[in-house]
Amino acid sequence: MTLTATTPPAARAASRLETPWWRDAVVYQVYIRSFADGDGDGTGDLAGLRARLPHLASLGVDAVWINPWYPSPMADSGYDVADYRAVEPLFGDLEQASAMIAEAHQLGLRVILDVVPNHLSDEHAWFQAALASAPGSHERSRFVFRDGRGAAGELPPNDWTSHFGGPAWTRVVEAVGDEAHPAGEPGQWYLHLFNTKQPDVDWTSEEVREEYDDVLRFWFDRGVDGFRIDVAHGLTKHADLPDVGEREFPHQPFGAGDHPFLDRDDVHEVYRRWRALADSYDEPRVFVAEAWTGDPARLGMYLRPDELHTAFNFDFLVSAWREPELRTVIDGTLAAHDAVGAPPTWVLSNHDVYREVSRYAREQDRPQLRNEGDFAGRPADLAVGLRRARAAALLMLALPGGAYVYQGAELGLPEVEDLPEESLQDPVWFQSGGEHRGRDGCRVPLPWSGRTAPFGFSDRADGAAPTGEPWLPQPASFAGMTAADQDGDPTSTLELYRSALSLRRSLEALGDGSMAWVDSGEGARDGVLAFTREPGFACWVNLSEQPVALPAGAEVLLASGALGGGDGAAALLPTDTAVWLRR
Ligand code: NOJ
Repeated sequence: MTLTATTPPAARAASRLETPWWRDAVVYQVYIRSFADGDGDGTGDLAGLRARLPHLASLGVDAVWINPWYPSPMADSGYDVADYRAVEPLFGDLEQASAMIAEAHQLGLRVILDVVPNHLSDEHAWFQAALASAPGSHERSRFVFRDGRGAAGELPPNDWTSHFGGPAWTRVVEAVGDEAHPAGEPGQWYLHLFNTKQPDVDWTSEEVREEYDDVLRFWFDRGVDGFRIDVAHGLTKHADLPDVGEREFPHQPFGAGDHPFLDRDDVHEVYRRWRALADSYDEPRVFVAEAWTGDPARLGMYLRPDELHTAFNFDFLVSAWREPELRTVIDGTLAAHDAVGAPPTWVLSNHDVYREVSRYAREQDRPQLRNEGDFAGRPADLAVGLRRARAAALLMLALPGGAYVYQGAELGLPEVEDLPEESLQDPVWFQSGGEHRGRDGCRVPLPWSGRTAPFGFSDRADGAAPTGEPWLPQPASFAGMTAADQDGDPTSTLELYRSALSLRRSLEALGDGSMAWVDSGEGARDGVLAFTREPGFACWVNLSEQPVALPAGAEVLLASGALGGGDGAAALLPTDTAVWLRR
């Protein structure tokens, strides 16, 4: 069965018509390579996305965020951009991009793209020019080129390491050279905080700043509503490039704005400039920051009124499925965002992290649930994981602010943990020397229909057979989990998301605003997250091992799983279940 029905968006609660859309938007993340493949070559593309836009409209989200779709050698799945003003031919072209933006708008969906300003591809014209120029040249000033340490400059300029593993510096063989750097010999080093094919640009260069202004304008002028900012906390570097020194977590900001390359205080100048640019449009454009600060107050600094609009709240994502931790994260998040007048943005997963079903399938005994190393090899109960993920979705969508839904979360997909090694493509796998499998397990192409691979992923508009295999193999276990399987099944995760998103639009209490915890006198107890929102709404989530009685007389609007009790008794909320109530 193909999903073609476009249900009109549920009426938006009257009081929320006044709220700027981005303050409480639910944004669906399209990892374009794996969303839908319209030309049948095994790689997701714009044709596929356009064909499946009705799925997103019927899901009830407000916007889509599309991962980088620019020309790229794909050394980091598109986060190595070779040209910011074009579309990767595997995905389509500019004309199709414009058509997609227009079609999304017609369906009431806003469009957010991904800007990658910390680094670009080594195949970008600027970097090619830098390689073909001498040390000290203008062409090199756009990047961070330095002489090495050691008698012959044979050691990297400092001790920084790549986020993907290994050194953050690569030495070039000089093409032109000068007296100190003979042509044809190893010469200067360039900085790359990620892959060697992703040279960092130098944000002290006004030319760099102007270039990214222009890139933003290029897409804003084509109707794009906003940008997600890649590594927003990473652009600026300490002028002296000092060593990080011996640290357990060298890639975690120090929390005081003085880390040599992360979450530095001087990065905020960039965002003040970008905000002014976004505000210069009649319909102001918006930003969401990918900023891993590890500290709600530091995150809040990106959201001051003259900076960015929103930022992903990763503290929520990395929290264990435990009541005290989640309560602390929620309180800390709300306080930090209130302090700057910004709405929080909740997120459970994305293309960089283990899918929530598989995270929550493990014993919840550790706080940092992010990297595959935290999970692989540990016993998993996927039924428990799915139950918790469904409850977490209702929790997330009931909290004040906006939310992001990563493609496949609405199908309750687990991480694909057994991808054959020969299929792995993430640079993390290669740079860690095979120690970490990387992020491919959450990037497997979506299952749309059918009982076997490619599960409708490569359905072509002309009905012809696909010509290529999905770029990552889909597991046989996707059978029964496709969008078509779940469509119309009231017990499915897809229908749970649809109901929640439709209710969220119609209930005045949800979206932007505030909440109040229900205290123990009102029946909440340890292991239970219960809060109210006005007017007349409550969300209860049971993370304890015992069922909990819901308030007598409360009307159940939506539950993430079957409730107990009945026959006149107060309904019982089972373990790992969430419920929305009308009070
Ligand atoms: C964050 C992106 O989400 C991730 O996929 C990418 O590898 C790095 N930034 C580098 O661009």
